[in-house]
Amino acid sequence: MKSILITGGCGFIGSNFIRYVLEKTNYKGNIINLDKLTYAGNPKNLTDISKKYENRYFFEKADICNFQQVKDIMIKYDIDTIINFAAESHVDRSIFGPKDFIETNIFGTFNLLEVARELWKDRDGVLFHHISTDEVFGSLGDTGYFYETTPYDPRSPYSASKASSDHLVNSYYHTYHLPVKLSNCSNNYGPYHFPEKLIPLMIMNILNEKPLPVYGDGKNVRDWLFVEDHASAIWLIVTKGRVGESYNVGGENEWENIQLVNYLCERMAFYLGKEKDYYKKLINFVKDRPGHDRRYAINCDKIKNELGWKQSVNFEQGLDLTIKWYLDNQEWVKEIQSGEYKNWIDKNYQKR
Ligand code: NAD
Ligand code: DAU
Repeated sequence: MKSILITGGCGFIGSNFIRYVLEKTNYKGNIINLDKLTYAGNPKNLTDISKKYENRYFFEKADICNFQQVKDIMIKYDIDTIINFAAESHVDRSIFGPKDFIETNIFGTFNLLEVARELWKDRDGVLFHHISTDEVFGSLGDTGYFYETTPYDPRSPYSASKASSDHLVNSYYHTYHLPVKLSNCSNNYGPYHFPEKLIPLMIMNILNEKPLPVYGDGKNVRDWLFVEDHASAIWLIVTKGRVGESYNVGGENEWENIQLVNYLCERMAFYLGKEKDYYKKLINFVKDRPGHDRRYAINCDKIKNELGWKQSVNFEQGLDLTIKWYLDNQEWVKEIQSGEYKNWIDKNYQKR
């Protein structure tokens, strides 16, 4: 690998992944970050990296749905590896308006595959790695896990669009022999997480003493993974995983939402010098998310046994790191909340 194209590298996981590869692996080649800069993309996530690695890190503002833009960038940098993070990623937004999800997640992935098929015809040493989610497997009851072999059963427009893109990626492997790999990961958390998602939203609302909206009965379960552990898993799969395979990645760390929100209230009280239960009065049970998946739980034995991956941070440590990051980076939060994100929230969420 000499020249890796990261799509969506200005988002939460993409920017953490770029930082991880440049700072914590022995990769010596170039990284090209292709990002459309939607409301969720912020080049400032990588300001330090763009200065420190100015000869190896390059940013291109472009849309994965635009064939010519992607092709020109692939040729310009002689790309041999694509890691596709670019997506519309928020389930609630996909319920309010699925169109962007269909365009970017399905058509955008198709477009990237088409460029790769054209430019990499007869070329060895190339790879298309697709970043996917555990949500494609649907919803679990009180027991059981998602395995790589679990049949897909997506239930929101977001997860349906991700499932569709996964199927397209696999179809290019079988039909055109494009070398592909996939990873399906559980809920990430950590620095640069957009504050519309549960953990950063709750941290910010606690800080500002605003209501903490818990959907339904709060007993939905998610499996949380620190974002840098997702990055290390992707890097292992890209460098050592088997072509044509998918790998599950998860935290093995299941929490009911209400249990997690209570815990966040306690940790925030600790950092802000309040009594342990002070912020719990802000908890507000609101109307449930339509089609709200009850429980996600990942079995990640395959990546552990085959590639030797393991989580490096336990949840309590990871959450403390995350809380401190948000407390130290209020300017970052204010800036992204001042634009399109804020307008969208004002329009859609205040109605509930
Ligand atoms: P994010 O919303 O924070 O970032 C998405 C990035 O993609 C943004 O920088 C955005 O500008 C860019 N983008 C959107 N549309 C684009 C387009 N048409 N062309 C180019 N760039 C575009 O998302 P995230 O949470 O970092 O998720 C990244 C990937 O990981 C997604 O594919 C998501 O489905 C997957 N995933 C996320 C999680 C999670 O917990 N966040 C878990 C598993 C898998
Ligand atoms: O499982 C992986 C997925 O995790 C990724 O594919 C998605 O991109 C990512 O956004 C995330 O999806 P979720 O829907 O699980 O994450 P979210 O943070 O939106 O919600 C987590 C849980 O918290 C979910 O059960 C809904 C609930 N919730 C969420 C918000 C935003 C609330 O109760 N209140 C809220 O305000």
